[in-house]
Amino acid sequence: MSNLRTRIIDAIRLNGPMPVSLYMLMCLHDPRDGYYATRPALNVDFTTAPETSQVFGELIGLWAAHEWMAMGKPTPFHLIELGPGRAAMMADVLRAASSIPGFADAAQIALVEASPALRKEQAARLVAWDITHHDDIEDVPPGPSIILANEFLDCLAVRQFVRKDGAWHERQVGLDAAGNLTFGIGPPADLPEPLFPKADQVEAAPALESFADAVARRLRANPGRALLIDYGPDDHSPTDTLRAYRAGEQVSPLSEPGATDLTADVDFLRLQRLFEQQRVAFHGPITQQAFLKRLGAAERAEALARANPARADDIRAALEQVLSPDHMGTRFKVIAITPQGAPTPPAF
Ligand SMILES: C[S@@+](CC[C@H](N)C(=O)[O-])C[C@H]1O[C@@H](n2cnc3c(N)ncnc32)[C@H](O)[C@@H]1O
Repeated sequence: MSNLRTRIIDAIRLNGPMPVSLYMLMCLHDPRDGYYATRPALNVDFTTAPETSQVFGELIGLWAAHEWMAMGKPTPFHLIELGPGRAAMMADVLRAASSIPGFADAAQIALVEASPALRKEQAARLVAWDITHHDDIEDVPPGPSIILANEFLDCLAVRQFVRKDGAWHERQVGLDAAGNLTFGIGPPADLPEPLFPKADQVEAAPALESFADAVARRLRANPGRALLIDYGPDDHSPTDTLRAYRAGEQVSPLSEPGATDLTADVDFLRLQRLFEQQRVAFHGPITQQAFLKRLGAAERAEALARANPARADDIRAALEQVLSPDHMGTRFKVIAITPQGAPTPPAF
């Protein structure tokens, strides 16, 4: 039995069932045994768009360079990435955006990363650049900023509630009669904030509120933009989407605490409401497919294929993965946040 499973079972025996959010937080970030803290296996347990096609990060780099110019070329400015993983996207962003005179010299690269293991990989991959690491976006000094994140928000721990006999109850992780981890529900509880459940279940990441607050304060104080890409529906709030991945397969979130990636859909409707309450402009969501196509993904991939004929088929197949509705193209959505009154960013 894994160390973390034993500790979680002991904690439940001692204190009673724990909310799903605490279970998710421990599984991902427990310093001794958490998935991201100790053994993140990107490209093994799951594969992301920047790990699939270099066109993804390159177009985001050109998007960022365009917005930097629209902001009046602030020098210096913070180029912030949240949850950069193995830094594939930042490497491609920097390579593409460096073609715009002044961008690379002006960019102060700030990586917000919880995982010590991934911080090391990021430093190695970006060895040619000056980077700083931060625990939280709030720790990046004030100033003009371009904030990027791919598959970061889906890692934030979610609380789940179910309605039974007219009352809401928080979903919990407890023990069954044989002492194994199992889902259950707690006593009647108030929803933590006005949520808009479509059904008798609702799921919400409490951290989205402080995240929207931190991003919006930054964009109100100085020129700035944020570009966030993740999966989730755009017409309703998620209800029960917590899931786990191991070696590319979906497995039970309770099967191997700390050894699987746990994730939940992003609530784009709630994000829109939170950002609009914060007096910043919210653009999208649009599908990843629409975003990349409008920025010229097909043309860029063809140019790459012509320049690398031996890899042409791989380049086209990788683009298909990030564009096709059968893969990432429509499940993933893109949103941008700008100060009110700023021009609409490219592709939106
Ligand atoms: C699913 S991976 C995505 C990696 C990368 N963006 C990509 O697209 O390949 C999630 C990333 O967010 C980081 N992360 C997760 N939760 C975090 C948190 N609360 N604070 C900072 N980083 C976090 C993980 O360590 C990892 O780098």
